[in-house]
Amino acid sequence: MKILVLGGAGYIGSHTVSELVDAGEEVVIADNLETGHIEAVNPKAKFYEGDIRNREFVDSIFDNEKIDAVIHFAANSLVGESMTNPLKYYDNNLYGTKVLLESMVAHGVDKIVFSSTAATYGEPESIPILETDKTEPTNPYGETKLSMEKMMKWTGVAHGLRYVALRYFNACGADKSGEIGEAHSPETHLIPLILQVPNGQRESVSIFGTDYDTKDGTCVRDYIHVTDLAQAHILAVKYLAKGGESDVFNLGNGVGFTVKEVIETARKVTGHPIPAVESPRRGGDPAKLIASSEKAKKILGWKPEHASLEEIIESAWKWHKNHPNGYAK
Ligand code: UFG
Repeated sequence: MKILVLGGAGYIGSHTVSELVDAGEEVVIADNLETGHIEAVNPKAKFYEGDIRNREFVDSIFDNEKIDAVIHFAANSLVGESMTNPLKYYDNNLYGTKVLLESMVAHGVDKIVFSSTAATYGEPESIPILETDKTEPTNPYGETKLSMEKMMKWTGVAHGLRYVALRYFNACGADKSGEIGEAHSPETHLIPLILQVPNGQRESVSIFGTDYDTKDGTCVRDYIHVTDLAQAHILAVKYLAKGGESDVFNLGNGVGFTVKEVIETARKVTGHPIPAVESPRRGGDPAKLIASSEKAKKILGWKPEHASLEEIIESAWKWHKNHPNGYAK
């Protein structure tokens, strides 16, 4: 199959491309390199630099390549930034997807796998979270991702396009090659921030809130290895290629770890004391987010292979130790 990966130079996108290439698929990447990295573009993929809001650019890819399916990662994804600059999210995430879907319909490309998020649920009503639970996002990031899901649904009803939305929980870890990994600027995610301490880039890590209703008072999250997420995209493309119906799937390990447990595991992995400073809560953080991924297991045949937190942090550490400044020289 020839697969177009939008946002294939980003964190989850580049890991998915790597797994697709290893599986022998033909891959075309498009990325505007705003948050993606040219160094993360897989040399075995064909690369187009450009923005999905540019209809001519998107049309030119579908005109030049005979694309069987699209995997769509090209979006902004910072919760905090979305609160202060919501229209950026409506423009890139929603308008970008609108242009993409128009072009797909015009070119008869009818399969899309889309990176959605646990942020579509908002404050969960029960744990673990099921796909049928209520979706009431508490920030524009989650709101635009949910709207992107809906846009695909209604485009499907009108034009026969089929989609799979994958709602990730906390993506983390890095590829086994050590060549690609997580590199955000600014970095806001817990594991990379923790690893900046043993890397000599910060003195300590902050714990945002110690008074949550959890076993040690710190937030609980479901950490899922990026390579396991990547594999789910491949399974989702195959599912659609076999005629599967449009659907939404959670992707997580189904196990929650507190912030303190994550820091403790990182101490074990790195052998560094990693001082932690107890700090006030960060706005908008739900106490607990844990996925039920039973549906993805049953319907897509997905099975996380790197479920241990220690293994996840080891893979992240391998990347960050050798690339303390991400892809920057
Ligand atoms: N945290 C700290 N200290 C830090 C950074 C984070 O204590 O320096 C805590 C957060 O408060 C949170 C946990 O660590 O409780 C994980 O935080 P991340 O920022 O790593 O991840 P989030 O759970 O906030 O975000 C993830 C995804 C988002 C998605 C969101 C859904 O990265 O894309 O889950 O709620 F939107």
